[in-house]
Amino acid sequence: MPLRLLSALLLAVATFSTGVYAQKSAPDAEGHAWWQHAVFYELYPRSFADSNNDGTGDIRGITAKLDYLKDLGVDAIWITPCFLSPQVDFGYDVSDYENIDPRYGTLADFDQLVAEGKKRGIRIILDFVVNHTSDQHPWFVDSRSSRTAPHRDWYVWRDGKGPGQPPNNWLSTFGHSAWQFDPKTRQYYYHFFYIQQPDLNWRNPAVEKAMLDVPRFWYQRGVAGFRLDAVDTLFEDPGLHDNPVLPGRNKYGDPNMENKYNTKLPQVHDVLRKLRTGADQYDAVLIGETWTKDIAELKQYYGDHSNELQMPMDFLFTEVNKLSAPEFRKQIAGVDEANGWPVFLFSNHDIRRQLNRYGDGQHDQQIAKLLAGLYLTLRGTPIMYYGEEIGMVNNDPKRKEDVQDPIGRTGWPKEIGRDGERTPMQWSADPNAGFTQGKPWLPVPPSYKDTNVASELKDPNSILNFYRRVLGLRHTNEALREGKYVALNSADANVLSYLRQYKNSAVLVALNMSGAPQKVAFDLTPQGFASATLRPLASAGGPSEAGSAATVELQPYGVYIAEVQAGAAAAAQPGQ
Ligand code: GLC
Repeated sequence: MPLRLLSALLLAVATFSTGVYAQKSAPDAEGHAWWQHAVFYELYPRSFADSNNDGTGDIRGITAKLDYLKDLGVDAIWITPCFLSPQVDFGYDVSDYENIDPRYGTLADFDQLVAEGKKRGIRIILDFVVNHTSDQHPWFVDSRSSRTAPHRDWYVWRDGKGPGQPPNNWLSTFGHSAWQFDPKTRQYYYHFFYIQQPDLNWRNPAVEKAMLDVPRFWYQRGVAGFRLDAVDTLFEDPGLHDNPVLPGRNKYGDPNMENKYNTKLPQVHDVLRKLRTGADQYDAVLIGETWTKDIAELKQYYGDHSNELQMPMDFLFTEVNKLSAPEFRKQIAGVDEANGWPVFLFSNHDIRRQLNRYGDGQHDQQIAKLLAGLYLTLRGTPIMYYGEEIGMVNNDPKRKEDVQDPIGRTGWPKEIGRDGERTPMQWSADPNAGFTQGKPWLPVPPSYKDTNVASELKDPNSILNFYRRVLGLRHTNEALREGKYVALNSADANVLSYLRQYKNSAVLVALNMSGAPQKVAFDLTPQGFASATLRPLASAGGPSEAGSAATVELQPYGVYIAEVQAGAAAAAQPGQ
């Protein structure tokens, strides 16, 4: 074997055994790292693709769909927890952080997913449940066994205030007291989420060490990063002060409360810095579930921009729950000015689907394209949620007895749970939308007959083909990859418009957020494009031919993405 071939082979073997993506990929000319150009796609493994027809999705199912994801334009997939778990919270209750739940497959299946992903340039991001474990985790099993057990202090145990009285007034975000009395040792343990999800005591150095070891295990298997679950709940006030009670009651009938003493404690940032040090050794990305109340708080999660989260998710964006140009404009400007890398998403496994929130029942196809035209063209990284690319809608349970998500059973009917946004991916018009030949764990809505991947691939005007077009542009167009965000026509109440501008090139995005046709005029002279011409790159309800920027007509909810050409250049290229 020639020497060069042999050394290439040895290098390949070394790269693989030290972690598929362990070597730092070089930043681009603008200093952007891989995750800044990647399109992320969140998938719920129970619901994505079922390879063994048991009604529940699995890892092999995901692997079988990598080509679909590649063609769509996805660069990284975030898989919600697939570790060993009793599945009370469908994986967010982990009983072994270093194993795959057999319902989803094996570690070998997982390794194969990573390797097949690598072949296609798709990275794998896992979901690290940092705040709590399952009550079946061996650490908690030991912790609750006696007051002197080695793991007793790995969780938060306290005496009650008096007989039958919890230590304080803190509430679980999933309903009722956050304290559970354990008769065996006659103390209460703390759980911010379900009773079966006891909070880890992050003030105990042994807990910190054990948890900081987990990511390394996965990085060495080629994982490219983590989404950090519920990061703001890691620490509690050791003095256990009562939280301030607010007027009114929540969906569970409990008093409203400000979670002042059990969320967002500053120590969270110490942990993030430690997790980041680990991530940096593997060129990995950390995405945070950061429910922030304002931009100032979001900013804190970036740390000094090199030492905490690279991608704190902007949930404020998801809270603009109506199509409103001024509201989105304000939100985008805030995140853009936060000096970090923006991270946009519209929905996920805890948030109702886009069309349920923004659809009007009449223009839904168009509205789905409008939303794609927004979050896929902004400066920053988008995180898609599976099924949004075909316009899937929630399929909510109608009766309490059909609910799978425990919060839906606790809070019914005011809180119906999150099953609706977690239903099986709709692949085709075959029974169960081609997801399984078994009985799907959640029902598929009848609309799957039209809303499915196979039908939409065939229809050039489908939502799916619009996504493919825009995602294609995102990967190839320099202004969309690197350009700054420049708000345009900031007083327009109906049309949200902006430029993405890079060196001499620019892309204009115009999004009609109203149900009426709109005519818009752009003067791009201040941006260096006098008498500009716009050439369509992707259009749905916008111009289909090149024309002057001085008059752009948009249909109701029309979206127009166009390359900007200065007047003289446009004149020199007739027919464009
Ligand atoms: C996060 C997850 C949610 C889960 C909770 C508890 O909010 O997104 O699905 O129930 O954490 O782990």
